[in-house]
Amino acid sequence: MDLNGKHIVLGLTGGIACYKAADLCRALVKEGATVQVVMTQAAAEFITPVTMQALSGRPVYHSQWDAREANNMAHINLGREADAILIAPCSADFMAKLVHGRADDLLSLMCLARPLATVPLLLAPAMNREMWAHPATQRNVAQLRADGATVLGVGNGEQACGETGDGRMLEALELLQELVAFFQPKALAGHRVLVTAGPTYEALDPVRGITNRSSGKMGFAIARAACEAGADVTLVAGPVGLATPRGVRRIDVVSADGMWREVQRHMEQATIFVAAAAVADWRPAAPSDQKIKKQGEIAPPTLGFVENTDILASVAQSPRARQGALYCVGFAAESHDLLAHATAKRQRKGVPLLVGNIGPDTFGQDDNALLLVDAHGATEIARNSKRVLAQRLVAEIAARTGSHSV
Ligand code: CTP
Repeated sequence: MDLNGKHIVLGLTGGIACYKAADLCRALVKEGATVQVVMTQAAAEFITPVTMQALSGRPVYHSQWDAREANNMAHINLGREADAILIAPCSADFMAKLVHGRADDLLSLMCLARPLATVPLLLAPAMNREMWAHPATQRNVAQLRADGATVLGVGNGEQACGETGDGRMLEALELLQELVAFFQPKALAGHRVLVTAGPTYEALDPVRGITNRSSGKMGFAIARAACEAGADVTLVAGPVGLATPRGVRRIDVVSADGMWREVQRHMEQATIFVAAAAVADWRPAAPSDQKIKKQGEIAPPTLGFVENTDILASVAQSPRARQGALYCVGFAAESHDLLAHATAKRQRKGVPLLVGNIGPDTFGQDDNALLLVDAHGATEIARNSKRVLAQRLVAEIAARTGSHSV
């Protein structure tokens, strides 16, 4: 679980988005965190402390005069224990308060008293679109960032007041992803990572085609882990139904040819290329623009194929890759003799790092095992979730490329 061992102080201020804080609290606990809820009086108008206590499994704090603390200093004690303070929802009024260092209730007092160097403060703004766009609010956002707070983005859409625009609080799962990402080491800061993922689909006619069983899960997990590690990530995805990881730029393609075109458009800016896609080696030589019909008793049609561009090998041969400015990582999905095939494939594709796995054991699954092959030999990453494997792989790539642009 991504938040194992983390203690989060979840602060709620007044706003209709308090209803999402209940879900957020639950999601944080499910992800392994312990959660201490602190609410303002206005927040308690929108959601009861009883609900938040039940979901967090801890009594909720809302007054600086709370006698439960032996030293009567809840504002000091609560903040000192936290790995992070997350204010969700954070109202326009509460941001204005923070900017001025006002401290007339427990939550603002605790934020002011927090040790700046060790307890990060994250804010999830929630307000009407006019309030969000107001110069005073935008000035406060800039000042809060300058003061060291992390002001998360806002959602766009229909608001409780009936208007539509920017200012909604992010959804609980988006906030969870933001917090998880916040805690990850920024091992790829400064890098621009290009990832291919998923299968490709090679059309035979308008309704039929050839594809494979790749789910895209590993490539998407790599894109997410690279983004959380501080990289700017572009994900070129074949046809899959997976959600785009937060912060990742996604480009959907269908065929190997389409994937190659998009990779060409982005490879010049990239510093790392990870080819996790299961690209079709061949495409039909003459796809029909009309559905191929059965014609009486005539024998089935004979299909001719032409070879697709080997995207990985082509990128690895590009001048920037050869000069070491673009670090290329390939994948090999094999059915047997993994080490021998992966070693040979690394050389054939001309890449510094090749990640081998057993195809039938991984397609569509949530876990896998990897064998990393580079010029120095092979390293195993034991069976684990694709999420954890992607994080380990990103750490291995970072160790080989350094944390800043190559
Ligand atoms: N790859 C690619 N473009 C292709 C084919 C493969 O970029 N047209 C990449 C894959 O994304 C993967 C690696 O090459 O990173 C290995 O693909 P694989 O299909 O296993 O290798 P092949 O060269 O096709 O070898 P074989 O099918 O004979 O095992």
